[in-house]
Amino acid sequence: MTALEKIGAPPTRLGGTVLYDWEYLVQEDRAHRLIYTDPVIFAAEMTQIFGGTWTYLAHESEIPNINDFITRRLGLRPLIIARDAEGKLRALYNRCTHRGTTLCRFDKGNSKSFQCPYHGWNFLNTGQLRGVPWPDGYAGDMRDPKYNLAQVPRVESYRGFIFGTLNLDSLPLIEHLGPIATVIDEWLDRNPGGRIVVCEANRFRFKANWKLAYDNSCDGYHVAYSHRSLLETENRFAGENAKGMAYYRNSPDTQPMYMRYAGRGNHYKDKRPNLEKRPGGLWALESAHPGMEHYEADFISRYGDRAFSLLDLAGSEPVNINVFPNLSLLGNHIQVFEPVSVEETNAIWYGTMIVDDGSIGADGVRDINALRMRTQEGFPNFGEVDDIANFEQIQRGLMAIEDEWVYMHRGLGIPDRVKTNADGTITAPATDEAFMREHFKEWKRLMQTRANLAIRREP
Ligand code: FES
Ligand SMILES: [Fe+2]
Repeated sequence: MTALEKIGAPPTRLGGTVLYDWEYLVQEDRAHRLIYTDPVIFAAEMTQIFGGTWTYLAHESEIPNINDFITRRLGLRPLIIARDAEGKLRALYNRCTHRGTTLCRFDKGNSKSFQCPYHGWNFLNTGQLRGVPWPDGYAGDMRDPKYNLAQVPRVESYRGFIFGTLNLDSLPLIEHLGPIATVIDEWLDRNPGGRIVVCEANRFRFKANWKLAYDNSCDGYHVAYSHRSLLETENRFAGENAKGMAYYRNSPDTQPMYMRYAGRGNHYKDKRPNLEKRPGGLWALESAHPGMEHYEADFISRYGDRAFSLLDLAGSEPVNINVFPNLSLLGNHIQVFEPVSVEETNAIWYGTMIVDDGSIGADGVRDINALRMRTQEGFPNFGEVDDIANFEQIQRGLMAIEDEWVYMHRGLGIPDRVKTNADGTITAPATDEAFMREHFKEWKRLMQTRANLAIRREP
């Protein structure tokens, strides 16, 4: 038996946004500034979006063993993502049921129970209250399930990526992901055994709304301008149009790369068709980063003919995969957006390592992973700051309250430019804003729906 507690979400719980005219705020070609600046809309998003749809929480490789845990958030809710004593993945509310304090203050660890620092209530990693100090002081039955930790009622993992939702009516995760799951498969399957392990992160916090980062995640229009200094740095080392983002330089829309909308707010920008299909083709595009020539020479001297296919495993996969509302897979990295307030967001870049499946050997895996860490010194350090500067400057611009709209109509209304495919996905040239128009349809749908939300407690 599972104990579900329904969340009624009456209008007051949504801060009064029941009165908002969503069709007016988000139109086909433009969005109103209020969706990025209004604290009431932000508060509603923290339930309607971060709660109302499947949201990325953590990667299984961060909690590989029984009783491992890591602390994360679902919107603003503090969570403990745990693998309990039976191996079951759980997303426990990191909030003591006694008086509400944060139960676990560690970032991660291994424990089968959590003791509250305030008055010492002790909870198992199943969420059950195990005991309280001096229980004689309580008249009632402390085994009542209402004292057990709240949990996200639905937690599912797709190939290691753990998602959670409060929405009892959401499709199973795999159906929800739909076509984007195929692209995630491709991103994983180029690695030995189709696996990656998530490692430590670069952490940024910027003063702007979280959606500005998601709006940018598939934007091929800004690259040549916003990342100009990085683009020029890359190409100074390798000649005109040779590296990383060079495709964007002259006529990006005539390149084989494209953007595709995959439903449910998910999309990807695919630069893989531009790639030369040969060993070393991917590595040849890798951005300049410190010491790469030496690594390359070392690989060639040690691995001979295999060197370039091994170097490709260290190279950044040229696809940006964006899973609404908070996850991007970029190159070798996983980026997660964490809303903090209506005008503050964390953008966290996790590195990833490959795992030895016997096909490469421990030395090769170690060398490739060392080089993958160096790719962190490319775009995640030198490109992300360009993007963050844009997000903060947009937030500042949106304080001009009489000038109400931002436009996202690039590609709209041009015959045969934006194509709907047989599977319902939508394809457009790399600089089009079709992805943004589409993810805002999903955003609007979620903001308007009275979802069937609940939390769970162990009985
Ligand atoms: S708040 Fe946790 S034991 Fe009192
Ligand atoms: Fe960018």
